[in-house]
Formats: sequence, C-alpha cells, structure tokens
Amino acid sequence: MLVNEIKPSVYYVGSKDPEREFFDQLVPLPNGTSYNSYLIKGSEKTALIDTVYPPRECEIIEKLNALGINKLDYIIANHGEQDHTGSIPALLQLYPEAMVVTNAKCREIIMDLLPSVPENRFITVKDRETLSLGDKTLEFILAPWVHWPDTMFTFLQEDKILFSCDFFGSHLADDALYVEDEQRVLTAAKRYYAEIMMPFAKIFKKYFEKIDELAPEIIAASHGPIYQNPELIINAYKEWSSDNVKNEVVILHISMYGSTCKMVDAISERLLQKGVGLKIHNVMETDLGELAMDLVDAAGIVIATPMVLSGPHPNIVQYVYLLNALKPKLKYAAIIGSYSWGGLMIDVIKNMLGNLKIEILEPLMIKGHPKANDYEKLDNLAQQIVEKNASLFAGAV
Ligand code: FEO
Repeated sequence: MLVNEIKPSVYYVGSKDPEREFFDQLVPLPNGTSYNSYLIKGSEKTALIDTVYPPRECEIIEKLNALGINKLDYIIANHGEQDHTGSIPALLQLYPEAMVVTNAKCREIIMDLLPSVPENRFITVKDRETLSLGDKTLEFILAPWVHWPDTMFTFLQEDKILFSCDFFGSHLADDALYVEDEQRVLTAAKRYYAEIMMPFAKIFKKYFEKIDELAPEIIAASHGPIYQNPELIINAYKEWSSDNVKNEVVILHISMYGSTCKMVDAISERLLQKGVGLKIHNVMETDLGELAMDLVDAAGIVIATPMVLSGPHPNIVQYVYLLNALKPKLKYAAIIGSYSWGGLMIDVIKNMLGNLKIEILEPLMIKGHPKANDYEKLDNLAQQIVEKNASLFAGAV
C-alpha cells in the first residue's frame, strides 16, 4: 500500500469515505468525507495525529503496517469526537506502549465516549506545552469551541505544519491529497464552516491571532485536502466569521395551497428588481448544507409559512430551529404568511429565534390568498428590506 509523505517522516495515514451520505445523521455529505490522520516519525519517538472513524480503522492499521510501524509512542487526540478518536481503543491494543496525548477536557470526553480507554493511558497537556519526538517537536494550542469544548491544534514546529483538526476542514473524499481545485475546496469548506463552525464564529479572532503568530506553511485539517497555501483557508475563515454581510436575502418558505407561495413570488420579484441577491429555499426540497452556506453572508432572511394548527407549518419549524442554532450574522428577519382563522404563528417563530440578536421586521400575515392591498403591503416590506440593505452597503440600491 502506497502511503503519502507530506514532509520527510510525516505521512498521511487517514481514510477517504466517499460513500458516507450523512454526518451525525443530520449533515448531508454530497462529496463524502475523509478522516485525516497523520504519522510523524521523529528520531526518537513516533506520534500519530488523530485516528479515524471506527468503520475505517482497517485502513489506518494497513497504512501503519505498510510504514513498518511496530512501535507507536503517542496518539495525539486534538478532539474527542469519534470520527477522530474512534480507532484509539484498537490502536492502543495494537501498540501497547502508546499513550494518548490530549488536553484535560478532551481526556474527559474520550473517557465518557470510549470507556474502554484505560485511565492510565493518557498524558494530559496544557496550552502551548511541547512534546519532543527527537528531531521533531509538537506544540499544543488549546482552541476550545472549534467546535467542542475540548478542541485543540497541534503544531509541528520544525516543518511548520498546523494540524487543526475540524477547524478549516471540508467534507471531501477526493483522491487528491492537497488542494488542487481551490474553488471546489473553498465551496466545500464554506459548507463545512456553515454547518459546523458558524455558531462559534465570534471567538475565532483570538485563534486567528495565534495561527498568524505560528505562520504555518501547511494546514492539515482532519477532513478534506491539505492546504499548501494556508492563506487560502485562513482568509476565507476570516471573511466568513467577520461581521460583513452581502446584499443578499435568504427566503425560507413553504406553502400548502399556494397563498404563501404567491407572497414569496411577489416579494422575490420586487427584491430582484431592486438588485437584492436572493437565496430561495423551499423547505420541502432544500439541502441543509446549501441553506447553511447561504446563511453565512446574507444580510437578512424572510421566513414564509402558512398557519397550521395555530402555528407555523411543522416542516419549516426544524429549519427555524437550525437557523437559531447556527447563529448566522443576519441583521434582520421578516416573517410572512397566510392564515384562514387565527393563531400564534408569529410569536412561535419569534420565540424560536432567541439566539439571534436581530431586528424582526413588522410581520405580514394575510387572510387567504393575497389581494391587491396585500400586494401593496408586500411591496412595502420589500422596499423596507431594500432600504435596510442600502444602509448596510453603499450603492446597493
Ligand atoms: Fe470531525 Fe468534530 O469531528
């Protein structure tokens, strides 16, 4: 088996999983994923950076065998989620001298999730602590909440490789070891950022400062291709997590008999006429990843739903819940819809958006199909949105 060498004595020993369709039974994986693991052979000690998802553990073992690794000193766990730690129990059995090196929080999480890992097989490290492998030195940088409380980076000082775990990752199972098609990787990385990292964006600034100080020459994340041009992904992350928004509006909608759909068509037409970029998602067809990506840059959102059982349509509720959980940097939300008698739809949706510190525009509910005066109200709402965006972007209208 051919094992790729990234730098002298630094190898890729991870696994590509092109057939996996969902992550966490939630996130669609249109391009599969990879579980990246890296082996570093120092002059005195050998370390493995992260492991792989247990169904793929044969592959990491085959790669370690192909490299003739019969003694492994350290397994570095940058993060406790099982796509990276799940093979630790098998590897500890295979390599009885190996110790799991991680921070205190990650150790706690591994012990909770993988109770077969014995307590005496851990070495606990602190922020900026180093571990010598002889001619190579690992430095640990604690980076909680990218995206669990346990996350950390490992920096290989001599080769200037940052092993960033999920941070900067992408769900791609491409054969290429390194980024080749930058646009394809950036799209996948943005999707990954939106689904996994966006809720924590406000704390990234301090991590960018640490990473800038380290000045890595290579970023090797735990999913997706390796970056030989770290600036590509660092700059993208800086932009995505900044306060900047684009002159775009996400329209999240569902309709039963066409009334709400007519409202969506009317407001969309007016917004398009005024040059607002639209990202329209019918919840009966949308892809969660596409929606999350569109929320990264949008200035606002229009939530459009008919009243059902005195509240919003149940099929839009899960998306409103996710919208609140993903915490995009939206500046405002509009709620529109159609009803036949009464209900509490507006209050239900407003109460679901508590995480988002955004302005809720005056809701627009209409009785039955929209009529001439309803279209006027929709025009007014569209104009309000156009003006909101104009206040955010010079020259948007
Ligand atoms: Fe790739 Fe949070 O695990």
